[in-house]
Formats: sequence, structure tokens, C-alpha cells
Amino acid sequence: MTVKKLLVAGAGQMGAGIVQVSAVAGIDVVMIDVADEFIARGLAGIEKGLGRMVEKGRMEAGARDAALARSTTSTDMAAGAGADLFVEAAPEAMAIKQGLLEKAASLLRPDAIIATNTSSLSVGALAKFVTGPERFVGIHFFNPVPMMALVEVVRGEATSEATIAAARDFAEKVGKTPITVADSPGFVVNRILFPMINEAANAFAEGVASAEDIDTGMKLGANWPMGPLALADLVGLDTTKAILETLERELGDPKYAPSPALGELAAAGKLGRKSGAGFFDYSR
Ligand SMILES: NC(=O)c1ccc[n+]([C@@H]2O[C@H](COP(=O)([O-])OP(=O)(O)OC[C@H]3O[C@@H](n4cnc5c(N)ncnc54)[C@H](O)[C@@H]3O)[C@@H](O)[C@H]2O)c1
Repeated sequence: MTVKKLLVAGAGQMGAGIVQVSAVAGIDVVMIDVADEFIARGLAGIEKGLGRMVEKGRMEAGARDAALARSTTSTDMAAGAGADLFVEAAPEAMAIKQGLLEKAASLLRPDAIIATNTSSLSVGALAKFVTGPERFVGIHFFNPVPMMALVEVVRGEATSEATIAAARDFAEKVGKTPITVADSPGFVVNRILFPMINEAANAFAEGVASAEDIDTGMKLGANWPMGPLALADLVGLDTTKAILETLERELGDPKYAPSPALGELAAAGKLGRKSGAGFFDYSR
């Protein structure tokens, strides 16, 4: 199936990004959220993102205007009736996602694809809320969506091959490269990335090197565009710790246990960039 009309739930960081890349790709998009203020914030982000592309000469003003015209909004999911694809990008809470998935499954055509952008919940568990779970799939974008080229297409137990193919096609249509992954904690990227960040935090805690030198080491020695500790600060040290705890619990292996450095910094209110300090200081 070719996606011509998309319904996105959640106008936050991820939802707005998904709307932006889809509208640019010529897809008609309806973005919903629970209140007008959240929709306004999401739309402002999209306008800013597209505006920057025009300023940098990467997009014509006419194409920006056309993309914005293709992006409509509502606080009522019914505005998205007729969508070929639903993507939920609501907060990472099972109960919120359950409500949205049940509603979308009953609103949309039986052959419409229903997808979640979840980073950590089980696609198999979420599939239980969708009538016709063979049409349910994970479509996991990376943050910030307009910049990051990867999409993990997550195969749930019941997901059909046709649904996987449609999800991969959609990812390619919006300019991304899809990889198909099993419904396993952290999928591929976070499963590999977060233990590496954790090892950097352990090296820091053990005094192997300073935070600056650990990051310089990985930038120059492993060609990372950004050091692992700066990346942890960007993600948020509380979120980094929570992701590692999920990996440890779900995979049942203590090797994923968060470094004490993460807990200590987070307990001191040093959550990374968002709080002004983490492994590094952002107050100036
Ligand atoms: N932030 C990341 O780096 C990242 C990366 C990949 C995937 N994800 C996943 O994407 C999802 C969204 O994350 P985010 O960072 O965009 O969150 P966010 O908090 O920025 O945005 C969530 C939005 O959903 C809205 N919302 C809440 N209840 C809703 C409802 N019932 N219907 C419609 N909208 C509702 C909120 O008002 C908010 O605007 C989560 O599942 C998260 O795990 C996040």
C-alpha cells in the first residue's frame, strides 16, 4: 500500500518531526494532540524547521508553503478518518497508547496500517489493542526526525509481511533508510548504543580519564561525531538510566545495570543539558 494520507497522534518532538518529513514528501497529514497549545507548539517547530531549510537554500519557499498546507491539525481523531497509516507518537505510557490504538483501529479502514513510534514498549503487547494485529507494526524514528536517516521497522509476533513492506516503503518515501528488527528490548540501535554510553560512564566513575578526555577519545579514536558522555547529557541522564534499567530488566542480564555515575549525577539534579549540567556544564 502507498501511504497518501497519514494520521499522527502527538505533536511533541517526535510527532511533529514525523509530520514534517511526511508533508515534505507529499503526504497529506493530520496531526492530533490533546490540547491546542500542544498543537501550536508542534506546528511552530515544523514552521521553524522548514524555514531553516528555506534559509539554507535546501528548499524553495513554495515547497515549504505546500508542505504546511498539507499539514492539518485537530484535537479530534475523527479528522484523520480515511488515513492509510496511523502513527502514534504519544508519551511512553501503555495506558495512553492503549486508548489511541483502540480508537484508531476502530476509526480507520480495516486495511489501514496502525503503527507505534515507541522506543521501549513491546510491540507485541501493544498489538493486543489493535483489531487485526497483522496490520500493526513499530515504526521507530530517531530524534531529531528531520536529521536522522534511520527508521527501525519493528516486527511484532502477528505483523504481516505486507505490513512490514508498507512500513518500509513509507520510511523510504519520507527519505529514511529502514532496517527491519525483531520486537526485542532496545531494538538494534539503543541495545548497542546505551551499553556503550554506560561503559563511558563507568570509565568516568573509575577515574580512567576525565569526561573531556573520554569524549575526545571516542570522537578521534572511534570517529563518533559526538562523545558518549555528551550524548548522554543530550538524551538526559535520567532517561539514559531508565533505558539501561529497561534493558537490564527485560533482557535479564546485569551487564546492562546503569553505571553508579548516572544515578549519582541524576540524584544531584544533574540531568544533562536540560538541567544545565550533567557530565558537562551547560550553564554558560
Ligand atoms: N524523544 C526521543 O528521543 C524519542 C526517540 C524515538 C522514539 N520516541 C518515542 O516517541 C514517543 C513520543 O515521544 P516524544 O519525545 O515526542 O514525547 P513528547 O512528550 O515530546 O510528545 C508527546 C506528545 O503527545 C501528546 N499526547 C499526550 N496524550 C495524547 C493523546 N491521548 N493523544 C494525542 N496526543 C497526546 C502530548 O501532549 C505531547 O505533545 C514515545 O513513545 C517515545 O518513546 C522518542
